[in-house]
Amino acid sequence: MIPQSSTSSTQSCPSTARPETFVVRVPAKVNLALHVGGLREDGFHPLETVFQAVSLWDEVTFTPIDHAVLEITMTGQGAEALPIDHTNLVHRAASLLADRYGPHPVGVRIDVVKDIPIAGGMAGGSADGAATLLGLNQFYGLGLSINELLEYAGELGSDMAFSLLGGTAIGVNRGEQLTPIEAPARFHWVFVMSTVGLSTPSVFREFDLNEPPRHIHLNPAMIQALKQGDIDGVVQHFRNDLQPVAFKLRPELAELYRQGLDAGALAAIVSGSGPTMAFLARDHTHAAALAERLSGLDSVAGVRLAYGPVRGAHLLG
Ligand code: C5P
Repeated sequence: MIPQSSTSSTQSCPSTARPETFVVRVPAKVNLALHVGGLREDGFHPLETVFQAVSLWDEVTFTPIDHAVLEITMTGQGAEALPIDHTNLVHRAASLLADRYGPHPVGVRIDVVKDIPIAGGMAGGSADGAATLLGLNQFYGLGLSINELLEYAGELGSDMAFSLLGGTAIGVNRGEQLTPIEAPARFHWVFVMSTVGLSTPSVFREFDLNEPPRHIHLNPAMIQALKQGDIDGVVQHFRNDLQPVAFKLRPELAELYRQGLDAGALAAIVSGSGPTMAFLARDHTHAAALAERLSGLDSVAGVRLAYGPVRGAHLLG
């Protein structure tokens, strides 16, 4: 059931037409730059980041049901490890909308099929929350604008707004305040997954043990290179302030980083808070050859090819 807050205010009446089944597709992300400042009083860190949405997708189906307010299922690689309780971002997104816009006589089943690596620094949880906001807006005919959805996404999680927006974007504050960038070049990626995930809060906690960087400003040369479609220029400014922390917590990642570059990757970067490692290739053929070489290594749980940028959460069909 969606918990209905007794203090909730109903701001608009949802449509009473019976909703139809449909599917929302939502991408993973990688950070091309991630500058992190010192811990704030609210428990978060100031960020300046460049997000790119990449072609690994979760699919989320919305189906009307009569006998309950909300049901959630999750399937796909590793999904059995995910809690489907009030902490799940699908549940939290549905609860937020129910609190604001009131209950609907028709219940909904939300079936999430996961293809985004779990606990890998690719915003898989945020992606599902973003798909839920977009999907329930459509399902119940709430008529919310993209800006309203982005606002709700920002309340729920740091990466969720970007999962809605997609493409390439600068993110500041916690990462939820976005400015899209028109970035024409296509990036070909090999994502290498680890056997064990890394929790984002634990990576930030470890980060806090060291003096934070004094400056967290994105390099304007990187933004310029992105706009010009100059991949070599972008690569020169790859930076992730969480990468040394991920290497400390998982020394095998530092080894993997070197092995990927030795195998011919144009560049490498830990994806967000890790442990997924992103290797950049020249083109699809180069990416496939690189994936083949990296997939044989001991610490590697799996490899995935993807490209970016791609669009954000959207309805299929
Ligand atoms: O906002 P989100 O739920 O994605 O963040 C997960 C956790 O990552 C937070 O609870 C916090 O510990 C850490 N975080 C942070 N600073 C940010 C974003 C996330 O410390 N800007």
